[in-house]
Amino acid sequence: MNELVNEINTLKKEKNAVILAHYYATNEVQEIADYIGDSYYLAKVAKSTDADIIVFCGVSFMGESAKILNPDKTVLMPDMLADCPMAHMAEIETIEKMRASYEDLAVVCYINSTAELKCHSDVCVTSSNAVHIVKSLPNKNIFFIPDENLGRFVAEQVPEKNIILNKGFCHVHVSMTAATVQTMKENHPAALVLAHPECKQEVLNLADYIGSTAGIIDYATNSPKKEFIICTESGVGYELEKKNQDKTFYYADLKFCPNMKKNSLEKICHVLKTGENAVEVNDEICSGSLKPLNRMLELAK
Ligand code: 13P
Ligand code: SF4
Repeated sequence: MNELVNEINTLKKEKNAVILAHYYATNEVQEIADYIGDSYYLAKVAKSTDADIIVFCGVSFMGESAKILNPDKTVLMPDMLADCPMAHMAEIETIEKMRASYEDLAVVCYINSTAELKCHSDVCVTSSNAVHIVKSLPNKNIFFIPDENLGRFVAEQVPEKNIILNKGFCHVHVSMTAATVQTMKENHPAALVLAHPECKQEVLNLADYIGSTAGIIDYATNSPKKEFIICTESGVGYELEKKNQDKTFYYADLKFCPNMKKNSLEKICHVLKTGENAVEVNDEICSGSLKPLNRMLELAK
Protein backbone atom coordinates (compact mmCIF):
# COMPACT_ATOMS: atom_id res chain seq x y z
CA MET A 1 0.00 0.00 0.00
CA ASN A 2 2.78 2.43 0.94
CA GLU A 3 4.52 1.70 -2.36
CA LEU A 4 1.35 2.62 -4.22
CA VAL A 5 0.99 5.85 -2.25
CA ASN A 6 4.65 6.71 -2.96
CA GLU A 7 4.17 5.99 -6.66
CA ILE A 8 1.08 8.24 -6.80
CA ASN A 9 2.92 11.05 -5.01
CA THR A 10 5.89 10.80 -7.39
CA LEU A 11 3.61 10.79 -10.47
CA LYS A 12 1.71 13.78 -9.08
CA LYS A 13 4.90 15.81 -8.80
CA GLU A 14 6.27 14.72 -12.19
CA LYS A 15 3.05 15.60 -13.98
CA ASN A 16 1.98 18.64 -11.95
CA ALA A 17 -1.27 16.91 -10.99
CA VAL A 18 -3.66 17.40 -8.08
CA ILE A 19 -6.11 14.91 -6.63
CA LEU A 20 -9.59 16.14 -5.71
CA ALA A 21 -11.84 13.85 -3.67
CA HIS A 22 -15.42 14.11 -2.54
CA TYR A 23 -16.25 13.32 1.10
CA TYR A 24 -17.95 10.09 -0.07
CA ALA A 25 -14.73 8.64 -1.50
CA THR A 26 -13.10 5.82 0.48
CA ASN A 27 -10.87 6.71 3.45
CA GLU A 28 -7.68 5.74 1.59
CA VAL A 29 -8.60 7.97 -1.34
CA GLN A 30 -9.44 10.91 0.95
CA GLU A 31 -6.13 10.34 2.72
CA ILE A 32 -4.12 10.80 -0.44
CA ALA A 33 -6.17 13.70 -1.88
CA ASP A 34 -4.84 17.25 -2.06
CA TYR A 35 -8.34 18.69 -1.70
CA ILE A 36 -11.37 17.04 -0.07
CA GLY A 37 -14.75 18.71 0.02
CA ASP A 38 -18.37 19.03 -0.99
CA SER A 39 -19.43 19.61 -4.59
CA TYR A 40 -19.33 23.40 -4.32
CA TYR A 41 -15.84 23.52 -2.82
CA LEU A 42 -14.49 21.03 -5.36
CA ALA A 43 -15.96 23.03 -8.27
CA LYS A 44 -14.20 26.16 -6.96
CA VAL A 45 -10.89 24.32 -6.57
CA ALA A 46 -11.23 22.86 -10.08
CA LYS A 47 -11.71 26.36 -11.49
CA SER A 48 -8.76 27.92 -9.70
CA THR A 49 -6.02 25.28 -9.62
CA ASP A 50 -2.65 25.87 -11.30
CA ALA A 51 -2.10 22.16 -11.83
CA ASP A 52 -1.98 20.77 -15.38
CA ILE A 53 -3.90 17.62 -14.47
CA ILE A 54 -6.87 17.20 -12.14
CA VAL A 55 -7.61 13.65 -10.98
CA PHE A 56 -11.23 13.81 -9.84
CA CYS A 57 -12.21 11.13 -7.34
CA GLY A 58 -15.94 11.65 -7.46
CA VAL A 59 -18.62 10.82 -10.00
CA SER A 60 -18.91 11.85 -13.66
CA PHE A 61 -20.90 15.08 -13.22
CA MET A 62 -18.06 16.33 -10.98
CA GLY A 63 -15.30 15.50 -13.49
CA GLU A 64 -17.41 16.96 -16.29
CA SER A 65 -18.00 20.22 -14.36
CA ALA A 66 -14.27 20.48 -13.60
CA LYS A 67 -13.49 20.14 -17.32
CA ILE A 68 -16.15 22.69 -18.32
CA LEU A 69 -14.84 25.21 -15.77
CA ASN A 70 -11.27 24.59 -16.85
CA PRO A 71 -11.26 23.36 -20.47
CA ASP A 72 -7.49 23.77 -20.94
CA LYS A 73 -6.71 21.33 -18.14
CA THR A 74 -6.69 17.58 -18.35
CA VAL A 75 -9.30 16.05 -16.04
CA LEU A 76 -8.87 12.35 -15.34
CA MET A 77 -11.49 10.11 -13.75
CA PRO A 78 -10.07 7.01 -11.98
CA ASP A 79 -13.17 5.09 -13.12
CA MET A 80 -15.29 6.25 -16.06
CA LEU A 81 -18.20 4.13 -14.81
CA ALA A 82 -18.51 6.13 -11.57
CA ASP A 83 -21.73 7.92 -12.45
CA CYS A 84 -24.52 9.45 -10.36
CA PRO A 85 -27.88 8.01 -11.50
CA MET A 86 -29.69 11.14 -10.30
CA ALA A 87 -27.72 13.23 -12.81
CA HIS A 88 -29.86 11.72 -15.61
CA MET A 89 -33.25 12.09 -13.91
CA ALA A 90 -34.70 15.06 -15.80
CA GLU A 91 -35.95 15.46 -19.36
CA ILE A 92 -35.09 18.28 -21.76
CA GLU A 93 -38.61 17.95 -23.21
CA THR A 94 -40.09 18.69 -19.77
CA ILE A 95 -37.83 21.74 -19.35
CA GLU A 96 -39.05 23.04 -22.71
CA LYS A 97 -42.70 22.44 -21.73
CA MET A 98 -42.17 24.33 -18.46
CA ARG A 99 -40.55 27.23 -20.28
CA ALA A 100 -43.55 27.40 -22.60
CA SER A 101 -45.96 27.38 -19.61
CA TYR A 102 -44.33 30.09 -17.45
CA GLU A 103 -43.10 33.36 -18.90
CA ASP A 104 -40.60 34.24 -16.17
CA LEU A 105 -39.38 30.70 -15.42
CA ALA A 106 -35.84 30.06 -14.14
CA VAL A 107 -34.57 26.51 -14.54
CA VAL A 108 -32.40 25.79 -11.51
CA CYS A 109 -30.17 22.78 -12.00
CA TYR A 110 -28.57 20.87 -9.13
CA ILE A 111 -24.92 20.29 -10.07
CA ASN A 112 -25.72 16.54 -9.84
CA SER A 113 -26.82 16.60 -13.48
CA THR A 114 -25.42 15.90 -16.95
CA ALA A 115 -23.73 18.73 -18.84
CA GLU A 116 -26.57 18.50 -21.38
CA LEU A 117 -29.17 19.25 -18.71
CA LYS A 118 -27.03 22.15 -17.49
CA CYS A 119 -27.06 23.57 -21.05
CA HIS A 120 -30.84 23.90 -20.81
CA SER A 121 -30.73 25.57 -17.38
CA ASP A 122 -30.34 29.14 -16.15
CA VAL A 123 -28.23 28.52 -13.10
CA CYS A 124 -26.60 25.61 -11.28
CA VAL A 125 -26.68 25.10 -7.53
CA THR A 126 -25.19 22.70 -5.01
CA SER A 127 -26.74 21.65 -1.74
CA SER A 128 -24.64 24.26 0.09
CA ASN A 129 -25.79 27.27 -1.94
CA ALA A 130 -29.22 26.31 -3.41
CA VAL A 131 -31.32 28.28 -0.89
CA HIS A 132 -29.16 31.40 -1.20
CA ILE A 133 -29.13 31.31 -5.01
CA VAL A 134 -32.86 30.61 -5.46
CA LYS A 135 -33.64 33.49 -3.06
CA SER A 136 -31.46 35.84 -5.08
CA LEU A 137 -33.10 35.09 -8.48
CA PRO A 138 -35.50 37.71 -9.86
CA ASN A 139 -37.89 35.00 -11.15
CA LYS A 140 -41.01 33.99 -9.25
CA ASN A 141 -41.37 30.61 -10.98
CA ILE A 142 -38.58 28.10 -10.56
CA PHE A 143 -38.31 24.65 -12.14
CA PHE A 144 -35.90 22.76 -9.90
CA ILE A 145 -34.13 19.77 -11.50
CA PRO A 146 -33.31 16.92 -11.02
CA ASP A 147 -33.65 16.25 -7.25
CA GLU A 148 -37.17 16.42 -5.82
CA ASN A 149 -36.03 16.28 -2.19
CA LEU A 150 -33.49 19.11 -2.42
CA GLY A 151 -36.09 21.07 -4.43
CA ARG A 152 -38.71 20.58 -1.71
CA PHE A 153 -36.23 21.61 0.98
CA VAL A 154 -35.42 24.80 -0.98
CA ALA A 155 -39.15 25.48 -1.51
CA GLU A 156 -39.70 25.36 2.27
CA GLN A 157 -36.86 27.83 2.87
CA VAL A 158 -37.96 30.19 0.08
CA PRO A 159 -41.78 30.27 0.37
CA GLU A 160 -42.04 33.47 -1.69
CA LYS A 161 -41.19 31.51 -4.88
CA ASN A 162 -43.32 29.05 -6.82
CA ILE A 163 -40.99 26.05 -7.01
CA ILE A 164 -41.98 23.31 -9.41
CA LEU A 165 -40.47 19.95 -8.51
CA ASN A 166 -39.09 17.23 -10.74
CA LYS A 167 -39.15 13.56 -9.77
CA GLY A 168 -35.39 12.82 -9.51
CA PHE A 169 -33.86 11.24 -6.41
CA CYS A 170 -30.67 9.85 -4.90
CA HIS A 171 -31.09 6.12 -4.32
CA VAL A 172 -28.61 6.24 -1.44
CA HIS A 173 -30.34 9.00 0.52
CA VAL A 174 -33.95 7.98 -0.15
CA SER A 175 -33.28 4.54 1.27
CA MET A 176 -32.91 6.08 4.75
CA THR A 177 -36.17 5.86 6.64
CA ALA A 178 -37.76 7.89 9.41
CA ALA A 179 -38.37 4.64 11.34
CA THR A 180 -34.60 3.92 11.49
CA VAL A 181 -33.75 7.49 12.49
CA GLN A 182 -36.52 7.48 15.10
CA THR A 183 -35.16 4.25 16.64
CA MET A 184 -31.65 5.71 16.66
CA LYS A 185 -32.95 8.85 18.40
CA GLU A 186 -34.58 6.67 21.05
CA ASN A 187 -31.34 4.70 21.53
CA HIS A 188 -29.22 7.88 21.69
CA PRO A 189 -31.47 10.56 23.19
CA ALA A 190 -28.65 13.13 23.54
CA ALA A 191 -27.71 12.92 19.85
CA LEU A 192 -28.53 15.60 17.29
CA VAL A 193 -29.74 14.48 13.85
CA LEU A 194 -27.75 15.97 10.93
CA ALA A 195 -29.18 15.26 7.47
CA HIS A 196 -28.38 15.92 3.82
CA PRO A 197 -31.25 17.59 1.91
CA GLU A 198 -31.35 14.67 -0.55
CA CYS A 199 -33.04 12.65 2.23
CA LYS A 200 -36.82 12.12 2.11
CA GLN A 201 -39.02 14.65 3.86
CA GLU A 202 -39.91 12.12 6.60
CA VAL A 203 -36.20 11.99 7.55
CA LEU A 204 -35.66 15.75 7.19
CA ASN A 205 -38.62 16.28 9.56
CA LEU A 206 -36.54 14.60 12.29
CA ALA A 207 -33.37 16.61 11.61
CA ASP A 208 -31.85 19.24 13.90
CA TYR A 209 -29.68 20.46 11.03
CA ILE A 210 -30.00 20.05 7.24
CA GLY A 211 -27.04 20.85 4.99
CA SER A 212 -24.42 19.75 2.49
CA THR A 213 -21.69 17.26 3.41
CA ALA A 214 -19.38 20.17 4.33
CA GLY A 215 -22.26 21.79 6.26
CA ILE A 216 -22.80 18.60 8.27
CA ILE A 217 -19.08 18.31 9.08
CA ASP A 218 -18.83 21.99 10.11
CA TYR A 219 -22.01 21.82 12.19
CA ALA A 220 -20.80 18.80 14.18
CA THR A 221 -17.32 20.30 14.58
CA ASN A 222 -18.64 23.61 15.93
CA SER A 223 -21.36 22.11 18.13
CA PRO A 224 -20.84 21.72 21.90
CA LYS A 225 -22.88 18.46 21.67
CA LYS A 226 -21.03 15.14 21.76
CA GLU A 227 -23.28 12.71 19.83
CA PHE A 228 -24.72 12.90 16.33
CA ILE A 229 -26.90 10.75 14.08
CA ILE A 230 -25.64 11.24 10.54
CA CYS A 231 -28.12 10.95 7.67
CA THR A 232 -25.93 10.96 4.59
CA GLU A 233 -23.39 8.70 2.91
CA SER A 234 -21.05 7.32 5.55
CA GLY A 235 -17.86 8.50 3.75
CA VAL A 236 -18.28 11.81 5.63
CA GLY A 237 -17.18 9.79 8.67
CA TYR A 238 -13.53 10.05 7.65
CA GLU A 239 -13.43 13.84 8.09
CA LEU A 240 -16.02 13.95 10.90
CA GLU A 241 -14.07 11.54 13.06
CA LYS A 242 -10.67 13.03 12.22
CA LYS A 243 -11.84 16.48 13.29
CA ASN A 244 -13.89 15.36 16.30
CA GLN A 245 -12.11 12.65 18.20
CA ASP A 246 -14.05 13.43 21.39
CA LYS A 247 -17.45 13.00 19.69
CA THR A 248 -19.50 9.95 18.68
CA PHE A 249 -21.23 9.51 15.33
CA TYR A 250 -24.00 7.03 14.48
CA TYR A 251 -24.69 6.48 10.78
CA ALA A 252 -28.29 5.99 9.74
CA ASP A 253 -28.38 2.61 7.94
CA LEU A 254 -24.63 3.02 7.15
CA LYS A 255 -25.20 3.97 3.54
CA PHE A 256 -22.64 3.68 0.73
CA CYS A 257 -22.72 5.32 -2.68
CA PRO A 258 -21.46 2.48 -4.90
CA ASN A 259 -20.29 4.89 -7.58
CA MET A 260 -18.20 7.08 -5.29
CA LYS A 261 -16.59 3.91 -3.95
CA LYS A 262 -15.38 2.93 -7.45
CA ASN A 263 -12.42 5.31 -7.00
CA SER A 264 -9.37 3.44 -5.69
CA LEU A 265 -5.63 4.03 -5.23
CA GLU A 266 -4.85 1.50 -7.97
CA LYS A 267 -7.08 3.31 -10.45
CA ILE A 268 -5.69 6.74 -9.48
CA CYS A 269 -2.17 5.43 -10.08
CA HIS A 270 -3.19 3.89 -13.41
CA VAL A 271 -4.73 7.08 -14.85
CA LEU A 272 -1.82 9.19 -13.66
CA LYS A 273 0.59 6.81 -15.37
CA THR A 274 -1.31 6.36 -18.63
CA GLY A 275 -3.41 9.52 -19.00
CA GLU A 276 -6.41 7.27 -19.67
CA ASN A 277 -9.99 8.30 -18.77
CA ALA A 278 -9.60 11.96 -19.75
CA VAL A 279 -12.97 13.75 -19.60
CA GLU A 280 -14.04 15.22 -22.95
CA VAL A 281 -16.93 17.62 -23.38
CA ASN A 282 -17.79 18.90 -26.87
CA ASP A 283 -17.48 22.66 -27.50
CA GLU A 284 -21.21 23.30 -27.80
CA ILE A 285 -22.10 21.52 -24.55
CA CYS A 286 -19.08 23.08 -22.86
CA SER A 287 -20.06 26.67 -23.67
CA GLY A 288 -23.77 26.00 -22.96
CA SER A 289 -23.12 24.52 -19.52
CA LEU A 290 -20.37 26.97 -18.55
CA LYS A 291 -22.92 29.81 -18.28
CA PRO A 292 -25.08 28.29 -15.49
CA LEU A 293 -21.98 26.98 -13.68
CA ASN A 294 -20.31 30.40 -13.73
CA ARG A 295 -23.56 32.04 -12.69
CA MET A 296 -23.62 29.74 -9.66
CA LEU A 297 -20.05 30.66 -8.73
CA GLU A 298 -20.95 34.35 -9.09
CA LEU A 299 -24.23 34.24 -7.12
CA ALA A 300 -22.85 32.01 -4.37
CA LYS A 301 -20.07 34.43 -3.45
P1 13P B 1 -22.55 17.71 -1.42
O1 13P B 1 -22.51 18.85 -2.38
O2 13P B 1 -23.33 18.01 -0.18
O3 13P B 1 -21.18 17.23 -1.12
O4 13P B 1 -23.38 16.52 -2.07
C1 13P B 1 -22.99 15.81 -3.18
C2 13P B 1 -23.74 14.59 -3.36
O5 13P B 1 -23.58 13.88 -4.30
C3 13P B 1 -24.70 14.24 -2.35
O6 13P B 1 -25.23 13.02 -2.60
FE1 SF4 C 1 -25.37 10.61 -6.70
FE2 SF4 C 1 -26.50 9.90 -4.43
FE3 SF4 C 1 -24.06 9.03 -4.98
FE4 SF4 C 1 -24.50 11.60 -4.38
S1 SF4 C 1 -24.77 9.83 -3.03
S2 SF4 C 1 -23.25 10.83 -6.05
S3 SF4 C 1 -26.51 11.93 -5.34
S4 SF4 C 1 -25.94 8.52 -6.11
